Amino acid sequence: MRILGIETSCDETAFALAIGEGETVRIERSLVSSQADLHAKYGGVVPEVAARAHVEMLIPLMKELGIDPSGKDIDAIAVTAGPGLLPSLRIGVEFAKALAFAWEKPLIPVNHLEGHIYSTWFQNPPSFPALALLVSGGHTEIVLMKDHGDYDLIGMTRDDAAGEAFDKVAKLLGLGYPGGPEISRLAKESVDPVPFPRPMIASGDYDFSFSGLKTAVSVFSNEHPDTKPEDVAAGFQEAVIDVLATKLMKAVDEYGPSSVLLTGGVSANTGLREEIARRLGEQAVFHAPELSLTGDNAAMIAAAGYFRAKSGESVQPSKLKPNPNLRLA
Ligand code: KG4
Ligand code: ZN
Repeated sequence: MRILGIETSCDETAFALAIGEGETVRIERSLVSSQADLHAKYGGVVPEVAARAHVEMLIPLMKELGIDPSGKDIDAIAVTAGPGLLPSLRIGVEFAKALAFAWEKPLIPVNHLEGHIYSTWFQNPPSFPALALLVSGGHTEIVLMKDHGDYDLIGMTRDDAAGEAFDKVAKLLGLGYPGGPEISRLAKESVDPVPFPRPMIASGDYDFSFSGLKTAVSVFSNEHPDTKPEDVAAGFQEAVIDVLATKLMKAVDEYGPSSVLLTGGVSANTGLREEIARRLGEQAVFHAPELSLTGDNAAMIAAAGYFRAKSGESVQPSKLKPNPNLRLA
């Protein structure tokens, strides 16, 4: 089955073709057009600017994908329906609806977070139950995945997402946007990381809070202006990694998953990958996406869409509406 995936939930316009066969799915083509440069000067994504840029990229990316304009080689269309920025989501959703209507192909709405989870499906497909730590610019969640499409939300952030904390601390340190890669690059130069607090590390549940940590970094930086920025960056990163890894391992102990998935933009962080792999040891099989698939892309949306299409799911094009607050469970 060949799936066309479309993703426009935030600031990447992405199209992909994926081929699904039984329990496996592979990428035929994946294109991502990032608007990061466009938003860099604002220090964050501006929704209306993002939506306009998505519109401009739709046709060029469709052409570059090289699919037959009749749609005859496509079996289904998967599109991110939420969560995300409404003006951005709307562009991809309306475009997908038009294609599904014109081509008379099944239309499959995909939750963006489910998409991130499926970014780990292109190597060896994970086995169930799988425990996923989803860390992106907008979300920080621990999700128990019992089967395709069957999710329990175990914990989530009560304020800022992990990626958002990276972005805000980077801004504070005068680094560029997105902040995650900048912080991790700078942190590598540190020999004496600042010890920052580990918010909610012993809270007894699986929830997170990163806004206090950001404030702690800000207060420390104001009080110790001579501290090297690399030591602040490294100390902040260590605190985030420690909290994420500790909570994830606690959930591993409680739920005994057969695989552990680390996904979302922040999963590009090598320190986080290494720490989770180290603490997990042989307790479960560890899966993290290829680096090119950690950020937003449409291959992961096509993969999630494949497993839904396979079980016969689809919606009438006229019925689909984007939902900026769409939940996984
Ligand atoms: O999943 P994603 O591309 O977009 C959302 O759905 O939010 O995640 C983007 C987030 C940004 O906050 C960015 O700073 C963070 O992922 N990020 C990183 C790294 N690379 C990207 N955070 C920490 N370390 C990295 N290496
Ligand atoms: Zn994302």
